[in-house]
Parts: sequence; structure tokens; C-alpha cells
Amino acid sequence: MSTFNLESYLEERRGMVERALAHHLEGCAAAPGTLREAMAYSLLAGGKRLRPILALAASEAVGGTAEDAIDAGCAVEFIHTYSLIHDDLPAMDDDDFRRGRPTSHKKFGEAIAILAGDALAAEAFRVVAERRKGREAQVAEVSFELARAAGAVGMVGGQVIDIEATGRTVTVEELIRLHRAKTGELLLVSVRAGAILGGATADQLERLTTYGAALGLAFQIVDDVLDVTADLATLGKDPGSDREAGKSTFVDLLGIDGARRRAAEVMEEGLLALAPLGARAEALRALGRYTLERDR
Ligand code: IPE
Ligand code: IPE
Ligand code: MG
Ligand code: MG
Ligand code: MG
Repeated sequence: MSTFNLESYLEERRGMVERALAHHLEGCAAAPGTLREAMAYSLLAGGKRLRPILALAASEAVGGTAEDAIDAGCAVEFIHTYSLIHDDLPAMDDDDFRRGRPTSHKKFGEAIAILAGDALAAEAFRVVAERRKGREAQVAEVSFELARAAGAVGMVGGQVIDIEATGRTVTVEELIRLHRAKTGELLLVSVRAGAILGGATADQLERLTTYGAALGLAFQIVDDVLDVTADLATLGKDPGSDREAGKSTFVDLLGIDGARRRAAEVMEEGLLALAPLGARAEALRALGRYTLERDR
């Protein structure tokens, strides 16, 4: 029986991540004030911090420390935050609320919102390499993987597939491809980065890849469900946005219960891969369950 206390674990880890994000933002102290303000406004708005927390947990699951993975975890959070700012723009999802506050373009105007996103994307690669001395090879590998996960065959490519799937009926297979790219890749690279920096063996890395890919897909299926079932106060972003924009979602294809069931099945396969990692992977197991059960 598991005695893992997810709530206190998340609280402790979020504290660690918030401090590290604020520290990394200080590296932009010489930037124009408006830009700094816009970057901090979105980055320090209190997201769930699942991606950095996954990186820390993955490092620990293979015998590394949280400290080994914190910079990489923050780098993913920089990229993720940039993707949210751009995702909310009028040219994209045209949303008004994010992380419990008005979206960046509502607060700062479109030009500064776009540029705050651009700056976060570039600064991510400073952050990931900040403490590279003595582990240059791992940091180079993680930078490479982060660039791939964020770019044309990863998140950005996924956003394009998302746009091109809008307003038409897609198959489950197409939607899986879309969700893996736009959301899954950044979650997967969080896990892989933590594992690589924590010193994973080839077998451990393969298992964590299976887990991370499952979690990444399940996460976006649940995001589709929450768009229909959650309210603005809990979610911190506009619900009903997908329907309004004619987005293709798992709820359209499988219904709310069917989508939830599919997410649980996908996650189950990922959790199976963790079995040989034993007790050290307990946090990753709990984060897998959290991905399914979260209400925001
Ligand atoms: C929202 O991600 C965007 C998606 C990829 C579905 P999160 O639900 O992790 O958002 P935050 O970081 O907690 O705000
Ligand atoms: C967003 O997907 C994926 C990103 C790359 C940001 P959504 O458009 O569903 O994310 P939310 O629901 O606005 O957070
Ligand atoms: Mg979108
Ligand atoms: Mg959106
Ligand atoms: Mg969504």
C-alpha cells in the first residue's frame, strides 16, 4: 500500500520550482522593463509546474537528485509558458484568461505578448545550460532534445496540426498524433531530461520514455475533458474554448466518460513500464495518477 502524500509532495516541489524560476528570471535583469514585467507576469503566475516536477522526479527515480534536474525542468517551464502566451493570442485560440489572470496580450498588448514569448523561448536555452560545467555531454543531449520537442516536429508542429484540424472531423489516430506533438513532447522531454541528468541507464531511459509518452498523451486527453467539465475559477483559463473555436478533441470523438477511460488506459501502460524501478519511482506513479485526477 502506498503511503505517498501527493499533496505535500506537490507543495514542497512547487516551492522549489518557484524559487528556481525566479532565480533564472533574474538573469534577464538587464532587459527592458516592460519585457521583464511581461515575462514574469506569465511565468510567475502559478501554473501547476508539472513539467519541472516531472524532471525532478525522473532524476530521483534513476538515483540522481532533484538538484541535477532543476535547471532543465525550469527550461521546459520557460518554453511551456511561451507556448501558452502564443496559444492564447487572437490569431490562435483567442483566449482572455490564463493561470487565473488576463492573458498576456490582454494585459500588455499583442506585440509585447509575442515578444515575451519569444524571449522565454530563447532564454530557456540559457537556463538549461547555466550549470553545464562537468556535465557538458548530458547538457548538450538535453538541449538537443528540448529543441526537438519544442520545435517543428514537436510542440510548434503540433500547434500547426491543431490549426489544420480545426473545423473538420478527425480520426482518433490523427488526434493522437496531434496531442502527442502539441503537448506530449514537452512532457516527455521533461521526464527524459530529468532521467538523463540523473544518470539513467539505457534500460531506465527506455522505461521512462514509455512512461513520459503515455503521460503526455493522457495529459492532453484530460485537458480536452476539463475544457468541457471545469469552471473558470478552478481552471484558471477559459472553459468551453475548444467548442467555441471548433477544435477537434477527444470529447467529440469518445464523449466525456470515453475520453476519461481512454486517458486511464493510456496512463496504465506508462505506469507498467515503471515496475522494475521500484520504490524510487513512487513520485512518478503518483504524478501519473494526478494527471488523470486533477481538476485544473
Ligand atoms: C496547459 O498546460 C496547456 C496544455 C499543454 C494542455 P498545463 O495544464 O500544464 O498549464 P499550467 O502550466 O498548469 O498553467
Ligand atoms: C495547448 O493546447 C497546447 C500548447 C502548445 C500550448 P490547448 O490550446 O488545448 O491548451 P489550453 O487548453 O489553451 O491550455
Ligand atoms: Mg490551442
Ligand atoms: Mg488554448
Ligand atoms: Mg485545452
